Amino acid sequence: MDFKNHTVGKDPFQEFEKWLSYVTETGEIEPTAMTLSTVSNNVPHSRTVLFKGISQQGFRFFTNYESDKAKEMDSNENVSLMFYWKKAILQVRIEGRIEKLTRQESEEYFSSRMRGSQISAWASQQSHMVENRQALVDRWEEIEKKFDDQNIPCPPFWGGYRVLPTRFEFWIGREDRLHDRYLFTKRYSDWVVSRLSP
Ligand SMILES: Cc1cc2nc3c(=O)[nH]c(=O)nc-3n(C[C@H](O)[C@H](O)[C@H](O)COP(=O)(O)O)c2cc1C
Repeated sequence: MDFKNHTVGKDPFQEFEKWLSYVTETGEIEPTAMTLSTVSNNVPHSRTVLFKGISQQGFRFFTNYESDKAKEMDSNENVSLMFYWKKAILQVRIEGRIEKLTRQESEEYFSSRMRGSQISAWASQQSHMVENRQALVDRWEEIEKKFDDQNIPCPPFWGGYRVLPTRFEFWIGREDRLHDRYLFTKRYSDWVVSRLSP
């Protein structure tokens, strides 16, 4: 892909997939890491989560349903996502509404995770205070023993979300700072593309 002469297509999802494949193939570190921003009581909160594919036109990620971010999304369904790919000097910004995945979709993804990660999901009361690291390790070992060699089910307090975009911005960095910015906004079921000044 030659970003110096790149023109975006009509479908922002296809455009995103192309960019993600490119940065994955060209050795970007953690190409699926994205910043998720939520807002509660007019205060923004950002953190990194891992992009886990697109389902029903939504960007998926998985987390703890009792975490701070989950509470923030319960109070305000509007979120933003941002990918910054440092090596390729590319950025994608997405804004949209959040939706919980079905239990089945969360369970399917959970069963594909490594056993250690499955135990950690049970062991962590994400965003809650914990006395020290040893308390976490003790809890992890207790859960490992409890499940022994059985299949580990998806915790009821853990699962996925999808972000249904209403706006995308694709940004291509250039050395002279005269960057390219393409904005996609949703009009009914169509996407309208425009170019923004950098
Ligand atoms: C590279 C990276 C990937 C991460 N991926 C996830 C993830 O997929 N899901 C998740 O819940 N937290 C993930 N985290 C941890 C979050 O950034 C955050 O610390 C955690 O979800 C608690 O956020 P909260 O207290 O705002 O809910 C990741 C952190 C990093 C640095």
